[in-house]
Amino acid sequence: MRILGTGSALPKFTLTNDRLTEFLDTSDEWIRTRTGIQSRQIATDEDLLGLALSAAQAALEDARLEPGDVDYLICSVIEPDTLTPSLACALQAEAGMSCPAMDLNCACSGFLYALDVADSLLRTGKAKRLMIVCAEMMSRLVDWTDRSTCVLFGDGAGAVVVDGGENLFRARLTSEGNVGILNHYPDPGNSPFLKSAHPAQGLYMDGQEVYKFAVSHSTHDLKQVIGEAGLELDQIDCYLLHQANKRILEAVRTRLHQPPEKFPSNVEKRGNISSATIPILMDELNRAGRFHPGDLLALSAFGAGLTTGACVIRWTKE
Ligand code: UT7
Repeated sequence: MRILGTGSALPKFTLTNDRLTEFLDTSDEWIRTRTGIQSRQIATDEDLLGLALSAAQAALEDARLEPGDVDYLICSVIEPDTLTPSLACALQAEAGMSCPAMDLNCACSGFLYALDVADSLLRTGKAKRLMIVCAEMMSRLVDWTDRSTCVLFGDGAGAVVVDGGENLFRARLTSEGNVGILNHYPDPGNSPFLKSAHPAQGLYMDGQEVYKFAVSHSTHDLKQVIGEAGLELDQIDCYLLHQANKRILEAVRTRLHQPPEKFPSNVEKRGNISSATIPILMDELNRAGRFHPGDLLALSAFGAGLTTGACVIRWTKE
């Protein structure tokens, strides 16, 4: 699998830590030292579809392709604007794509799951050129009175176009079936027959458990998938990790004995945008000229489920 183009889109409103202190019992100092986050982009008059469309169009332009060149569309999203039809169906109509289109929800690991599905479709010949769009509006999921979660997240979308050109791609996915540590319950509806339903609840997270899980699994997944690809950790040119928290990134980096320049980060300005963090970071680095043809990239994500995903891919784009 090869990456042909990348794109991203963010809402225009920047929510700083200081602004959060106007309605929450928190501080810039607490948020910075625990997470590294200084600000995040939060939707005001944007919707998820608009962000997804802008990211998709930017990725097509970067790949010098037209919407009709894409023969499969996968969107990674926790909560689309409409639960049905999918975000992917709404996006294909706006973008002018007529191809199979589906949503996939693997929380923050969604980009890695989507890449692995894309790889399978390419290998079996069911698709020749796919677009993956990860679009998340975390500001709709969090409880804005819960300081332990709402300060962590942001909104945005990242997209890639891929094809099956001869290239290195190796992925590893896991899932544990744990609903208690990290969850969000939507409105249960108003069926007069339903005897018991979990009431609606904003995003809940046991931060310390997720922290331990993230550091141990991300470290293990990366060692495993890089080894399975026949490579050494030091041969990887760039590690792109789910941008949840600067402390997690640092903990994984030191366990892998890698230098800071191999672990780029944008969590300081973006916060955690769930599955969109890696494709947004990849797009920012691509546009900054950080990647060179032949570079080896290792990706790793973790999230609700609890799910994880990691992969190794060679950057081939000029
Ligand atoms: O994609 C999903 C990935 N999720 C994550 O990456 C989250 C991983 N977890 C973490 O990064 C950390 O656990 C957090 C940043 C979420 C929390 O840091 P912590 O060091 O684990 O803090 P804590 O939950 O143990 O809370 C420590 C204290 C508590 O006060 P008391 O009980 O000691 O008085 C909290 O009430 O910090 C308090 N606290 C806050 N204080 C100021 C919690 N949130 C805040 C806040 N501002 N925003």
